[in-house]
Amino acid sequence: MIKHIPVVSGGLPLIGHMLDFGKDPDGFMQRCYAQYGDTFKIRLGKEAMNILINPHDIHEMYANKQRAFSATKSNRLISQHVFGSSLDAYDRTVHAQIDIMRKHLAKNNLHDYNLKMQNTLEAVIFQESSAHWQDIELYSFLSRLIYKAGSAALVSDTFASDDSYRDFKVFDDNVFYILGGAPKVFFRKAIAARNRINQRFQQTSQVSNAMQLERYHCFEENGIRAYDVAANDTSIFWAANSNTIVVAYWVILHLYRDPSVRGLLQEEMNTALQDSHEYSATGKPVLTLPVLEKLKKMDSFIDEALRHYSSIFSRRIAVKDTAFETRNGIYHIEEGEYVAGFSRICSFFPEIYEDPYTFQWDRYLNQKSFYYQGDKIKSMQFAFGGGQNICPGRWFSRNEFKIVIATLLQFFDFQLMESHLPEVNLTRSGTGTLPPKDKIKARYKLK
Ligand code: HEM
Repeated sequence: MIKHIPVVSGGLPLIGHMLDFGKDPDGFMQRCYAQYGDTFKIRLGKEAMNILINPHDIHEMYANKQRAFSATKSNRLISQHVFGSSLDAYDRTVHAQIDIMRKHLAKNNLHDYNLKMQNTLEAVIFQESSAHWQDIELYSFLSRLIYKAGSAALVSDTFASDDSYRDFKVFDDNVFYILGGAPKVFFRKAIAARNRINQRFQQTSQVSNAMQLERYHCFEENGIRAYDVAANDTSIFWAANSNTIVVAYWVILHLYRDPSVRGLLQEEMNTALQDSHEYSATGKPVLTLPVLEKLKKMDSFIDEALRHYSSIFSRRIAVKDTAFETRNGIYHIEEGEYVAGFSRICSFFPEIYEDPYTFQWDRYLNQKSFYYQGDKIKSMQFAFGGGQNICPGRWFSRNEFKIVIATLLQFFDFQLMESHLPEVNLTRSGTGTLPPKDKIKARYKLK
């Protein structure tokens, strides 16, 4: 029998459950799960969303066996509303653009991007450091560093400037409200910062890497106007930096809270780097692809940080009326409705992850698979989404974390000046990763 997905009671006219979700996203979703089970319908603003909590159902949505769900239908609206792209330009090029990114950012094609990241990171950090302790605020320090190095690698040196970083920060600090549907008139400064980023893209004639070259060629072939190309650039540029900065923060924070784990990771890295026979612009051993591949302890550490600090509505739009088969029965989903996997709840299921709220850095090292309701969960990591639309930047961002960790461990003394673990800031819930609520002081100096 085909059932209807239960509707969560209590939504208000126009805004639906926006207030409940906004006030306490994790608590609200937990309460809905406790009352309605694995599948329920909420309304955020005018959008009704069929929420999936069960990891097997989320994978069923990604697998999309009936060709019923589309991510691009949902992303095109974001591209227009948040980044100012025309829908026509998006529709004509999105598939080719994503294919180009998947090709260039594939795990084994990243050598040049990694090297540019490492060179820029080293140039910035060595220039600004000395043998004397320097006081920093951890989030701002890492945010600027990763922004500059990541942007230089993926876009061009133009975007590694401080002016460009300031615009990114203003936009990034506010974009989540716009993504959540808040009227743009309240976020004029953020939109002005986005427009300046767009203009910078339009004025940059320098094409820094093979991916950009191929992307621009594709836009040109399709006759896409400069404004829409820049809007697309800005969206990718933001997607590339925003989540990476947040996760790098938590990775570094946990690493420097635990000297014994740090020792293990340092040992692993020293051994792996013995196989690097290439040197960066500052003469340091390069984290080549085979070296990066050997950093299994670091991988597990990163995966645990992603599990703890990501919160996404992985959204698809139903392109036809569908009978969607879940673990709890078959549900009717109407054409045009959103279906969204919300993996933050199952990421803390004790049936899957023993002692789920503990940061257990070797969880993914010791366990190669995870099980729920007797069956293997098909993906080890939910933070990057899944299926055809899984994040194309997932390998590069993992390398970014490793390059930052390796640089700090090898060449710097680095100390946290506060011992508490900051609370997470839940205002970005559902859109990616969760930054900290409060600031943490730290200091560093050259070894
Ligand atoms: C920690 C870092 C990152 C996280 C947590 C993250 C997360 C995500 C998630 C959850 C999605 C949606 C996937 C889905 O709907 O199934 C996504 C898509 C995407 N990400 Fe990332 N991402 C990260 C880094 C990056 C980087 C470095 C880049 C660029 C180089 C990037 C570019 C993209 C693009 C272009 C898409 C759209 C893919 C599509 O529509 O098919 N991301 N990312």
